[in-house]
Amino acid sequence: MNRWVVKPHCALIFFHSWFNDLLLIPCALPPLLLTHRWLGLRGHDGPPTGGEIAAHWLGWSILFEGIGPRIMRTTGDPWDVAAYAAGALAAWAWWTNSHRKIVPNREVANFDWLAAHYRWMEWVLAGNKLQRCRTAFLASIPRPRQVLLLGEGNGRFLAAFCRQFPEARVTCVDASPRMLHQAQSRLQRAGGTAGKVEFVTADVGTWDFPVAEFDLIVTHFFLDCFRPDQLDELMPKIASSSKTGAHWLVADFCRAPRGWRRWRSGVILSLMYWFFEWFSRLPARELTEPDSRMQAEGFHLQQRQSADWELLHTDLWVKSEGVGKG
Ligand SMILES: C[S@@+](CC[C@H](N)C(=O)[O-])C[C@H]1O[C@@H](n2cnc3c(N)ncnc32)[C@H](O)[C@@H]1O
Repeated sequence: MNRWVVKPHCALIFFHSWFNDLLLIPCALPPLLLTHRWLGLRGHDGPPTGGEIAAHWLGWSILFEGIGPRIMRTTGDPWDVAAYAAGALAAWAWWTNSHRKIVPNREVANFDWLAAHYRWMEWVLAGNKLQRCRTAFLASIPRPRQVLLLGEGNGRFLAAFCRQFPEARVTCVDASPRMLHQAQSRLQRAGGTAGKVEFVTADVGTWDFPVAEFDLIVTHFFLDCFRPDQLDELMPKIASSSKTGAHWLVADFCRAPRGWRRWRSGVILSLMYWFFEWFSRLPARELTEPDSRMQAEGFHLQQRQSADWELLHTDLWVKSEGVGKG
């Protein structure tokens, strides 16, 4: 179309120099990947991944703009490389967005791949802020005996908790075996009493919660992994596993209530959900505040600490007397 219909009638340099380059990745990559699939070189029918797009953009840029001009009568042009990249970005956004609309909701995130990188990424992006939130109320809760840690991840809270309460019995549930492995190693390095900690690899959506067993529940940076419909199912199960008077510690992100802080927290949250959607297949696509659900389960907020211009908070909730099965 460009060669026979557009170019002969249009003098714009864009159509003569870069329009076809823009279309390279959107038009050439899908049939190429389909061929890979037929040849057994590709293991799925999903849309082109970020890695595939980046690799082909790089390979074709080197071939067409670096090697090609040395062996054929063509010229290399860095603007062509920029046009391939612009087309690739637009195509990637379009493929991702249309794929989102046709895939069913994801149920369980997969943090296995992130497990090895979680600690340094947290250090680079947040320093010690998240750990301060996790441990904010450790000194002010009553000595717990039976503790449930949900989505504990790589065990930073667990290690600090076991230092403070070495005699507590802890059940530590996480869907990611690699995260739990990290938690176990961290606890050992910290000299913790692993005998008192039970590590359970399970999806909380299907795990059999014991009834009225725990006097402390901890869900740090965990409830934000779920969609509203998942939280509707999960929160009653968590609540019914707690005894009357139980405490529930929640450290998490939140949307600041107003002003530039709200804008800032909105941008950071969007970036985070985008990142975790790509790298952990997180079911949630935005933050659902759990407060109303916790109140509905008979918990009341005893203390709240905010940090980082109200992007972070730590809550201490308590289960009211005579509520629930405990
Ligand atoms: C964002 S990380 C938070 C880890 C840790 N609690 C922290 O404070 O950094 C979420 C953790 O929840 C776990 N997780 C997510 N969905 C889960 C599910 N459905 N069942 C059990 N664990 C889950 C992930 O494997 C991951 O370790």
